[in-house]
Amino acid sequence: MVKAKSRYVCQNCGASFVKWAGRCENCGEWNTLLEQAPSVETESKTALSRGAVSGKKLEAVSINTIEPSDAGSRLSTSFADLDAVLGGGLLLGSVNLLAGQPGIGKSTLLMQICAAVAEGHQVLYVSGEESAGQVKLRAIRLGASSDKLHFASSTSGNDIAKTIEDGEYDLVIVDSIQTLSMAEISSAPGTVSQVSNCGNLIIRAAKTSNTAVVIVGHVTKDGTLAGPKVLEHLVDVVLNFEGDRYGGFKTVRAVKNRFGSTNEVAIFEMANKGLIEVKNPSEALLSERQNTDGSIIMATIEGTRPLLVEIQALVNTTNFGYPKRTASGFDINRLNLLIAVLEKRTKLKLQDKDIFINVVGGMRLNDSAADLAVCMAIASAAAARKLDEEVVVFGEVGLGGEIRSVTAPDRRIAEAKKLGFKHAIAPATIKDKFVLPVKDLRSALVKYMNNK
Ligand code: TYD
Ligand code: MG
Repeated sequence: MVKAKSRYVCQNCGASFVKWAGRCENCGEWNTLLEQAPSVETESKTALSRGAVSGKKLEAVSINTIEPSDAGSRLSTSFADLDAVLGGGLLLGSVNLLAGQPGIGKSTLLMQICAAVAEGHQVLYVSGEESAGQVKLRAIRLGASSDKLHFASSTSGNDIAKTIEDGEYDLVIVDSIQTLSMAEISSAPGTVSQVSNCGNLIIRAAKTSNTAVVIVGHVTKDGTLAGPKVLEHLVDVVLNFEGDRYGGFKTVRAVKNRFGSTNEVAIFEMANKGLIEVKNPSEALLSERQNTDGSIIMATIEGTRPLLVEIQALVNTTNFGYPKRTASGFDINRLNLLIAVLEKRTKLKLQDKDIFINVVGGMRLNDSAADLAVCMAIASAAAARKLDEEVVVFGEVGLGGEIRSVTAPDRRIAEAKKLGFKHAIAPATIKDKFVLPVKDLRSALVKYMNNK
């Protein structure tokens, strides 16, 4: 008999291969193939053949006879902005994934939510990462002391699903999905099969018992880890917790929300008694920022989400030889192209200038709407002129120096308004009172660069 061979399963997209390779042929991710024992494969095959026979015909009903889910069945997190991100609070029966880098504050945020919800509801916090004692320390620090807040330490997907299904709790926190495993599956915790199967078990339990569930998922800086990616398709709401681990703002956004919009954002700051909502982010953003020449705030879109980032330019006279052009967070070829456009279409002389571009906060811009902001930052630095403080910039620059329209202008404008800005220098095609329309690069510089 031929010995059963193991397969190599991509932890990013789930494709399986006979041979290991450094790069997944299906999704192109590097170093994501993981060996899977042959038993896992057989397990799913026998399950498939048994499952086909045991099915029965569905009993469908007319849509007119269905009662809508009650809008009152939402649990408030005690954070107004976070409630808005969720579409009005945590919906009973919904499964929410909170994804973020390790150490960003997921456990802290959830413990604070637990403390608030436990004032009127039964809440269970399940941790597979920390012991009861460690969680208690955090609870003391955050002032979570309700009798209705229960804790369990477990890494068993089966046990957790069973507990949820019992319906004793209105809210269950699972911290984190990467630590869970199902007894029926032999692969290690954190692999695609464990994460997706445990996820499915928990989702089914949440739906039958009408329990709100929040699952924690760790992701690396570039979001490559298996778990959350697979889970994103299964859960109702995906919240991304982003920001710097050490100080600075942290944002929670919904990248997917079956019960609300994905345009809201909640901004937090970590203090010594947990996370605090930043009530006036625009003020804080502007206070941190020094409005020197060469600094421009740009409204960008990250995936489907709007984001304001600061673009800085530094322009120095070249001391010898060839001028130096460096970009951090921005494509260097695009920068060279924009410099060429600036030289040709405006009166700026840049051929003997070193130019440095920096996107603040380690962000990487992959958005053609950054063109105008980069050009204006360079012009501002070169001419030592500032742009108005309350203005954001976005727009694509063509080779003729014309300003072209960009994707999702409304979302960029909404984000700028939300963060307290008064105007946006943007393509003239956008019809909005908020917009200071510009048709070409030259007029944009002439009109809006102050003489200060
Ligand atoms: P944590 O919530 O454990 O992060 P995650 O669950 O996402 O891995 O904690 C994040 C960091 O926040 C941790 O390094 C300690 C810090 N912290 C505070 O600064 N103040 C606090 O009140 C708490 C509870 C944590
Ligand atoms: Mg944690």
